[in-house]
Amino acid sequence: MKEQLANIRAQAIRAMEQAQDTAALEALRVQYLGKKGALTAVLKRMGSLTAEERPAMGQLANEVRSALEEALEARSKKLEAQALEARLKAETLDVTIPGTPVALGHRHPMYIALDEIKDIFVGMGFEVLDGPEVELSYYNFDRLNAEADHPSRDWSDTFYFDADSRVMLRSQTSPMQVHAMEKKELPIRILAPGRVYRKDEVDATHSPMFHQVEGMVIDKGITMADLKGTLNAVMEQLFGPGTVTRFRPHHFPFTEPSCEMDVQCHKCGGEGCPTCKGEGWIEVLGAGMIHPSVLEMSGIDPNVYSGWAFGMGLERLAMRRFKITDLRLIFENDIRFLEQF
Ligand code: DAH
Repeated sequence: MKEQLANIRAQAIRAMEQAQDTAALEALRVQYLGKKGALTAVLKRMGSLTAEERPAMGQLANEVRSALEEALEARSKKLEAQALEARLKAETLDVTIPGTPVALGHRHPMYIALDEIKDIFVGMGFEVLDGPEVELSYYNFDRLNAEADHPSRDWSDTFYFDADSRVMLRSQTSPMQVHAMEKKELPIRILAPGRVYRKDEVDATHSPMFHQVEGMVIDKGITMADLKGTLNAVMEQLFGPGTVTRFRPHHFPFTEPSCEMDVQCHKCGGEGCPTCKGEGWIEVLGAGMIHPSVLEMSGIDPNVYSGWAFGMGLERLAMRRFKITDLRLIFENDIRFLEQF
């Protein structure tokens, strides 16, 4: 048995030192040290030894096992190092080859327009607010003085989440007026851009999701003159000096008086052309003096404070700004379109 162990040791170590790859080395490990390996076979026969012979033989067998394991480990390290060296030789790196260009994206045209609008208002001391798109009808309608039977409350116009019309996707950014009145100290000057949702079919000028920019000012002594002066100044900065505007009377539940603001068509100077659909004017926003009931519901005394507010359609404004003719282009993310801005 002693001789056998010595043979195994010599043979195995020689074979391991000559193994050319890790697969060959693994085969040798199985061959000698595995469950059915040569060394194991010898160990199994230990039982046939006498009690005096056993300890010495056991010790020898353990020594052989350690020697084999060491040889295995040493060869494995060597093979790894060789493989690494071969790879380093094969993989030469040419640092002078030009890299693959990475296509850089840029802001979406609608957000370019929004950033311009934000810059103008922030320059006037407005704070930009963000608010929930999933809204309570309480904020979207009730607190904005919308009559119980106002058509926009209808299920055919508004996306509700529940049967009793309590939770909805906001249909306008105007509820941000109420959130601001609840949270902010007076005086308030805020701008609140964001997505709004209505049950409209998609066509060249409609989408069930679109963007509005809400603005609001509340302070002592605010009048319609502030509204007109501010919005005229904004339009001049947005569309260029000398931009002509007009205000038409309108109705919104949350403002009194209410108006819509048009900008004279930049293309035809008010003559009428395809861009303005022959009208000479392009409607850009709804606005008005905040209704005293709306102030009162938010705990603001309308005898002390007054304010004005506006809401404009961002897509429409961006379309005018960049002469885009179809609303769908804004949402389709066709890079042939987007790359033009
Ligand atoms: N929320 C209105 C709409 O969606 C737009 C609007 C009109 C907002 C007048 C206002 C406002 O703040 O004063 O049609």
